[in-house]
Amino acid sequence: MDAIRVRGGKPLKGTVRISGAKNAALPILCATLLSDGASRLRNVPDLRDITTTAALLRFLGRQVDVAAPIVTVAEGSDVRPEAPYELVKQMRASVLVLGPLVARFGRAKVSLPGGCAIGARPIDQHLKGLEAMGCKITLEQGYVVAEGPNGGGRLKAAEVYFDIPTVTGTENLMMAASLAKGRTTLINCAREPEVEELARILNKMGAEVDGAGTDVMHVTGVDRGKLSPFDHAIIPDRIEAGTYMVAGAMHEGGEVLLQGAELGDMEPLVAKLRAAGVDVESEGQNVRVARRKPLRPLQITTAPHPGFPTDMQAQILVLMCCAKGESVITETIFENRFMHVPELQRMGAKIALRGNTAVVEGVDRLYGASVMATDLRASASLVIAGLASSDETEVRRVYHIDRGYEHIEEKFRGLGADIERVKGAES
Ligand code: EPU
Repeated sequence: MDAIRVRGGKPLKGTVRISGAKNAALPILCATLLSDGASRLRNVPDLRDITTTAALLRFLGRQVDVAAPIVTVAEGSDVRPEAPYELVKQMRASVLVLGPLVARFGRAKVSLPGGCAIGARPIDQHLKGLEAMGCKITLEQGYVVAEGPNGGGRLKAAEVYFDIPTVTGTENLMMAASLAKGRTTLINCAREPEVEELARILNKMGAEVDGAGTDVMHVTGVDRGKLSPFDHAIIPDRIEAGTYMVAGAMHEGGEVLLQGAELGDMEPLVAKLRAAGVDVESEGQNVRVARRKPLRPLQITTAPHPGFPTDMQAQILVLMCCAKGESVITETIFENRFMHVPELQRMGAKIALRGNTAVVEGVDRLYGASVMATDLRASASLVIAGLASSDETEVRRVYHIDRGYEHIEEKFRGLGADIERVKGAES
């Protein structure tokens, strides 16, 4: 397994181009199942989750050509509406084929994803919504089998209330509702920018989706076979952008220009960075982040959008390790998303965990160490911690990072970081 070796201690300076959003590209790739013909996605990041999704779509019978940043998906000869465990276990977002498959082909068999490092992550809300739309759902040997009404018929519109806002749950039901008969109402929806991006695609394809970005959405479906393929450039990745913003703020004197980032989607993070004393300014299509003074501590609670994103919690926690005073960071989305804390403690961070809250006492410096990545965002936080320490850090099991950060070493090197990948390092 590869590792990333970082020798930190100096401020990052320079320009970094922000890639297309992984969490927008994944549901949009799955939306290609809703139509015949060839769809073309532009600004797709070169990531393992994208190649895993491409492999899944091929398994389902599609023709997929990945030449990042362009991916084309066309219909193949036969459709096999089944997502196998081997692919779903590599990437939980594979569950996003469930809604499109059952809506388009009347049947889907998708492996249950199981738990993962950050929490149990059930899909009950996805299934509840599909049932309300007339699906018969059964569980067979670890697989969810969904069948349209009367043995594979067209789904019917329904009113679905989500007990909690779920991003992929909202996306699955938006896609299913696009081919259902009538107007579906989704209540207590996720409001993430990636949900809005999927709505743009479904509208381009010919469905009618209103209210994306609010907590109530209406989706009017069209007949099977009536949605059109599309050509679309994916929005910038707000979490990748946020990660480089935090990295740029780790040292006084750091100044990073993020090319193609959109501040509008990052308000919760930007507000907290400014409260910590970091300068963040929009410059046309770019965003400039500069750290000119010591960091102030923060109180942060993660929440569904437009709250502070759980996908930035690990990174901001590392930043707070270098603030003067005590920060309090509470995680409310996933029950086990502090796996980076014991690794950071090995680097000299002073963090006390009390249930779902981390109390962080800023320290003068972090020390290099060998640390282990446990999930995608935790891995990024350990790389950032390595950049803050003045000696060498080796982050192991970086396959997590390759799922969600495009060319991370090159991008950091472009900002002046001393960072390299060590092929086949010990796990
Ligand atoms: N939940 C349920 N039942 C459900 C669905 C979700 O109880 O049926 C719970 C989850 O266990 C969690 C909360 O609801 O406690 C929110 O989970 P959500 O469903 O919104 O998460 P997700 O859709 O599985 C997406 C992102 C994650 C991101 C979360 C939260 C994609 C592909 N993944 O996951 O991204 O952390 O939303 O914003 O969009 C990442 O990129 O590193 C990542 C983990």
